[in-house]
Amino acid sequence: MFKSKTSYQTDLPVPKTRDEIKKQINLLCNEKNAIILAHYYQDEVIQDIAHFIGDSLELSRKASQTNADVIVFCGVHFMAETAKILSPKKTVLIPDINAGCSLADECPADEFKKFLNKYPDHFVISYINCSAAVKAQSDLICTSSNAVDLVKKIPKEIPIIFAPDKNLGRWVINQSGRKMKLWEGSCIVHETFSEEELIKLKAKNPDSEIIAHPECTQSLLEYSDYIGSTSKLLSYIQKSDTSTFIVLTEPGIIHQMKIKEPLKNFVDVPGIDGCSCNSCPYMRLNTAEKVIRSLEQMNPEIILEESIRSKAFNPIKKMLEMSK
Ligand code: 13P
Ligand code: SF4
Repeated sequence: MFKSKTSYQTDLPVPKTRDEIKKQINLLCNEKNAIILAHYYQDEVIQDIAHFIGDSLELSRKASQTNADVIVFCGVHFMAETAKILSPKKTVLIPDINAGCSLADECPADEFKKFLNKYPDHFVISYINCSAAVKAQSDLICTSSNAVDLVKKIPKEIPIIFAPDKNLGRWVINQSGRKMKLWEGSCIVHETFSEEELIKLKAKNPDSEIIAHPECTQSLLEYSDYIGSTSKLLSYIQKSDTSTFIVLTEPGIIHQMKIKEPLKNFVDVPGIDGCSCNSCPYMRLNTAEKVIRSLEQMNPEIILEESIRSKAFNPIKKMLEMSK
């Protein structure tokens, strides 16, 4: 699906216990001067071995600041690609090259170009969940944690296009009071939570607070007591006096919530029809075993055409400067 150097062998022995896994990964990281960056939606073992865990904004900051020669990006492809855009001289590995994202997939660069041509005078803000080729056509990148602030900073008379997440876009419009033209993309995970189950969970836990990621649909956000990026949700549960939270985002974040607040309760919301599709199928392709393989074999590596990388760099750099 994505460009990488080669695929790696999968028939080598891997350590069995968590301790063995941690030990082997530490050895490999020391040997290669590598850092492991992980998003909150990774499985618990990966979160526990990571050197740094964060939301998309924090991870891109960390990727631009690290002194490591190798970044093992435990997240999805657009996140690893962003690390490569910011640090082109570093080797950026992703444990599973097929860890994509429905938002990025639903916004092909050639279709996006045609869309932009229809609105020539617009300022283009793209959510970081998009390909490098889409970033290269954008004026500014945002993440879920800074989208509202960045949109508010654009002078009122300038019309804005916001892509590719229509749900995040609608929430930003409501929060900022700015009209924007939206690309019609969405996240398969945040659109799947069952409203019926949410109502039942709230009835069972009447004193709980509902906290949500802004990629959720409007109908779900209307039930929410607090809306924010993964990092903001994590800060919120530490500040709030509430002891039970119903969490409307990928349940991987609950691992860090339990670490930060071991005495509080966190309830995830199942998908429609009670399925477990509230887990991001792309994020969950990465495993600790694949982290070991990628470090041993220095592969799959993120490879980018320089012409695209350099164009995609400017709107990301602008975001980092504007959200200091
Ligand atoms: P954050 O900006 O909270 O890291 O979210 C990224 C993401 O992919 C949510 O689905
Ligand atoms: Fe993409 Fe949704 Fe997975 Fe986030 S949760 S990486 S937006 S598919």
